[in-house]
Amino acid sequence: MARFGVGALRLLLLLLLLLPLFLVDSRLDHIGVSSDQATNTINGDDEIVGTRWAVLIAGSNGYYNYRHQADVCHAYQILRRGGLKDENIIVFMYDDIAHNEENPIPGVIINDPQGENVYAGVPKDYVGDDVNVNNFFAVLLGNRTALTGGSGKVIDSGPDDYIFIYYTDHGGPGVLGMPTYPDLYADDLIAVLKHKHASGSYKSMVFYLEACESGSIFEGLLPNNINIYATTAANPMESILVIYLTASFSCMISYVHDWRTETLAQQYQLVKNRTAVHNTYYFGSHVMQYADLRLNTHQLSLYVGFNPSGDGGVTPVANPLTSSTQTVVNQRDAELVHFWLKLHKASEGSPQKLDAQKQLLQILEHRSHVDKSVRLIGNLLFGSEHGPRVLESVGAAGQPLVDDWSCLKSMVRALETYCGSLSRYGMKHLRSLANICNAGVRVEAMTKVAAEACPNIPSNSWSLLPKGFSA
Ligand SMILES: *[C@@H]1O[C@H](CO)[C@@H](O)[C@H](O)[C@H]1NC(C)=O
Ligand SMILES: *[C@@H]1O[C@H](CO)[C@@H](O)[C@H](O)[C@H]1NC(C)=O
Repeated sequence: MARFGVGALRLLLLLLLLLPLFLVDSRLDHIGVSSDQATNTINGDDEIVGTRWAVLIAGSNGYYNYRHQADVCHAYQILRRGGLKDENIIVFMYDDIAHNEENPIPGVIINDPQGENVYAGVPKDYVGDDVNVNNFFAVLLGNRTALTGGSGKVIDSGPDDYIFIYYTDHGGPGVLGMPTYPDLYADDLIAVLKHKHASGSYKSMVFYLEACESGSIFEGLLPNNINIYATTAANPMESILVIYLTASFSCMISYVHDWRTETLAQQYQLVKNRTAVHNTYYFGSHVMQYADLRLNTHQLSLYVGFNPSGDGGVTPVANPLTSSTQTVVNQRDAELVHFWLKLHKASEGSPQKLDAQKQLLQILEHRSHVDKSVRLIGNLLFGSEHGPRVLESVGAAGQPLVDDWSCLKSMVRALETYCGSLSRYGMKHLRSLANICNAGVRVEAMTKVAAEACPNIPSNSWSLLPKGFSA
C-alpha cells in the first residue's frame, strides 16, 4: 500500500463496475432509425403505451461510501435526460454526502473527475432514516399507506408500464445493505416482486444490482416467468471491486457507460467483457443475468428512456482496470482503505491523525472479532476438524443460499445478540450462517454457542448495536 503515493495528491475512489448504462444513439442512427421511433418501439414494432418508472437506491451512508450515492445521482441524471419525469423516478439516498464536512466541494457530488454536479435537481424522496426496507417495498408495491416518512411517491404503475430498479450498495450472501437496519433479505425482496407481478401492475421490469455477492439475491429464487430480468455485478460467490486512483478530487466516481448499446443483451455482454478484463477475471468480477432472459432483446431505452442528443452527460472512459496508476481493492475493504488514507494524509501529531488512527484500529478490531467469533462458533458446533469445512461450503449453482430464510435471520440475531453487530464487513459471513441452518442446527444451539464464543463485545462503533439487529 505504501507505493500508493498519497502525498499532496488527493484521492479518488472509483467504483468500477458498471452501472450500466444506458443508451445510445449512434448505432440507431447507423441503422436509420429515428430517435422518435426508437423511443416508441420495442424491437421496432410494438408501440409503448405505458409509462416508464424507476427506483434508484443507494443502500449505504457515510462519506467513505461516497460512490453509492454518486452512482444513484448519476443514474437520475441519465433517466431525466432519457425523458423520464420526476414524478416517475423515486430516489432513495441517505443524503449525507453533498454537505458532508469531508466534501471538498460543498453541495456538489460528482462521479467523474471532470464530471458535472450530478446532485443538482435530485429529488429527495426518501432520505436519512427513511431509506429503509419497509419504504422500499411500499414504493415498489405502490402502497402509500405502508410508507413511513418520505415524499409519498410510489410506483403507481399499471399493466402497460416498464419499471427499472437500480440498487447499489454493500451486500453479502442473500442480503443487501440499508443505511437503516434491518438489511434487505433476498427472500423478502423476491416475495415483494412476486406480489407486484400478481397485482398485474407492470409489463416488464429490469433490476440492476451492484453489490458484493449480488448474484445470491436472485440465484435459484427469482422466477423466470414474471417478466423480470436482473443483472448483477458479481456472481453469488465473489465480492465486487473498487478502484482507488490518485487524482485531484477527494471523492469516488462510478465507472459507467457505453452509449452504443442497444439491447439488454448487448449491454450485458459489454459490461461483462469489460469487467472480466479479457476473460482473466483477475481484477474483475463476473457480471451475471438472471430470471426472464426473453427480455434480453429489449432495448435498454425502453426502461431508461432515450436522449436524442446522445449526451448522457458523461464521457465514456477506458477501462480503468488496465491503467497502472491505481490499486484495485475489494469493495468490502473500501472503508478500510478510506481510513488508512486519512491516516496518512493527516499531519504528524495532529488530532486528525490520532482520530484516524483510532478509527482504523477500531475497524480492524471489529473485523478480527467478527471473523474469530464466527470461526469459533463453527468449531463449537461441528468440531474444529469439520467446522471450517461446513462454514465454507458452497451449494450447487442454481440453488438458493438457504432453505429456511427465517432460520438465517434468527441465526443473525442470535449471533449479534452475543457477538455484536456484523456491520457491513460481517455480511460476508452470511453464507456460513446459512450453512449452519442448512446443516439443521437449531437456533437454541446457536444461541448457546454464540454466548460461549463471545463473552463480550468490543466497545467500538462498528461492533455496537445502536440501531438494532441487521436481520
Ligand atoms: C398496504 O400496506 C398496509 C400496511 O402495511 C397493509 O395493511 C395493506 O394491506 C397494504 N395494501 C395492499 C393493497 O397491499
Ligand atoms: C465480448 O467478448 C467476446 C469474446 O472476446 C466477443 O466475441 C464479443 O464481441 C464481445 N462483446 C462485446 C459487446 O464487446
